[in-house]
Amino acid sequence: NRKVSIPDLHAMKAKGEKIVMHTAYNHWQAQMAEEAGADTILVGDSVGMVEHGFSSTVPVTMEMMLLHCSAVVRGAKRPFIIGDMPFLSYEVSPEEAVRNAGRLIKEAGVDAVKLEGGRSRRDTISAIVRAGIPVVGHVGLTPQSATQLGGFKVQGKDRERARQVLEDAVSVQEAGACMVVLECIPTPLARLITERLSIPTIGIGAGPFCDGQVLVFHDLLGIFNSFKPKFVKRYLNGRETLVEALSRYTQEVRSQTFPEDQHGFSMDASDLEGL
Ligand code: KIV
Ligand code: NA
Repeated sequence: NRKVSIPDLHAMKAKGEKIVMHTAYNHWQAQMAEEAGADTILVGDSVGMVEHGFSSTVPVTMEMMLLHCSAVVRGAKRPFIIGDMPFLSYEVSPEEAVRNAGRLIKEAGVDAVKLEGGRSRRDTISAIVRAGIPVVGHVGLTPQSATQLGGFKVQGKDRERARQVLEDAVSVQEAGACMVVLECIPTPLARLITERLSIPTIGIGAGPFCDGQVLVFHDLLGIFNSFKPKFVKRYLNGRETLVEALSRYTQEVRSQTFPEDQHGFSMDASDLEGL
């Protein structure tokens, strides 16, 4: 079971086999994603929201990403692992971007990095790629700059804006990215971009015609319940199921039904006489 490679992912696009991207943020989630057959795992900066309780991805730091990425790398062997570059780790200069991308590769051991933006990130992406580090692009709705985009909403809905998203995707490919995430864009636009690009597209809220799909772990398991975007499908009422189990533990401790004899350790009680 060797590591999934970039040529493997490109071959999947060529053959029309869907690329399944999971997200994971720690060791057990990565193990579970691999067991579930993930081709690739994204350690998203969504970690800030789903694991740290921030209301956006903006506060996420390199230190947080390094810690989460290294836990995921230890948990999954076969999937191609992508680490998100956090806000302000790649915008200041291409030099700083290369240095930070390099940390995710060298210190955390991910296989590639992902960063947001299209035309404006051309030089940054090509600098990182020239340094020998695979880059995954991310266009359409880019959460780190959601304020500039007017909030978390669909991008590219009219002809002019659709052209901009297309140009962003083409720029990312020309800069040398190996794959691109299309977030929250209309289905026909995602289809056009997928046909136009030679690199695989991974959709989230971008319809069924992308080369692959990604969904956030906590969203698909019904664990994150602050809000539910339209594009999320819940495969489990995870929060309900887990809280139910936790509540039974709470009740059993209170009612003294846990722990039972079988959960304790025995000794010869006479050894305690006179202590
Ligand atoms: O951070 C993340 O989880 C992402 C995906 C939603 C693509 O960037
Ligand atoms: Na992200």
